[in-house]
Amino acid sequence: MNLLHSFFFSVYPYICLAVFLMGSLARFDRDQYTWKSDSSQLLRKGQLKWGSNLFHVGILFLFFGHSVGLLTPHWVYESFISPADKQLVAIIAGGVAGTLCFIGLSMLLHRRIFDPRIRLTSHRTDLMILIILWIQLVLGLITLPFSLSHSDGTVMLVLSDWAQRIFTFRPDAAGLVALAWPYKVHLVLGMTIFFLFPFSRLVHVWSGFGTLAYVLRPYQVVRSRRLGLNKRVR
Ligand code: HEM
Repeated sequence: MNLLHSFFFSVYPYICLAVFLMGSLARFDRDQYTWKSDSSQLLRKGQLKWGSNLFHVGILFLFFGHSVGLLTPHWVYESFISPADKQLVAIIAGGVAGTLCFIGLSMLLHRRIFDPRIRLTSHRTDLMILIILWIQLVLGLITLPFSLSHSDGTVMLVLSDWAQRIFTFRPDAAGLVALAWPYKVHLVLGMTIFFLFPFSRLVHVWSGFGTLAYVLRPYQVVRSRRLGLNKRVR
């Protein structure tokens, strides 16, 4: 195992996670006016409705699919689904979500590059993050035929073992050496997206998930002067 391989799969994940967490915290603390999704809906609605919805449905599915698929320990599911079947489910579900996301993201990218008003009002990072997400998505889709050719589920077990070791601070990248190049580039670029996250509009993802807290928020107590009563309103 060479030095570069150890760096990218044993050290780089921690650099990216640290920058992702500390960077997000610092940006939220220091720069709240820039903490937004920066919607361009006011400039042009065309392509946004379909592009943004397809992209978000696809990416959220892929996000949760990757998290659950990679981080669930093997013993949790081994009694009711074999690794081969689990991999097949991941390939089919990931393929469908990836395709939806690809169509949406390509529309968003097209709109951002070719609409002069949106192009002019885009920050460099807006374009950069769309291009990186697009390349990452294409790489993910390229891995599908490779996974289909290892239908016994071994590739998925190698990847999830690596991810679980990272999250439990026991890094070991030896298993990844034999993987085909698209997997490795997909992993490195995926980690890079976490690295870039705090410096881009992607910070809105925190807020997207944060809105779930609204369901649990306490009642507001509203005191009516006229009736002198405490009212509970949502
Ligand atoms: C957590 C739930 C999420 C919510 C509520 C949300 C919401 C939004 C909103 C309101 C916009 C502005 C564009 C528009 O008006 O449609 C936007 C744009 C964007 N979002 Fe999200 N988002 C979420 C998750 C994500 C995720 C997981 C990613 C990718 C990792 C992402 C990447 C983007 C990108 C790249 C844009 C810019 C698209 C463009 O070129 O206009 N979002 N999001």
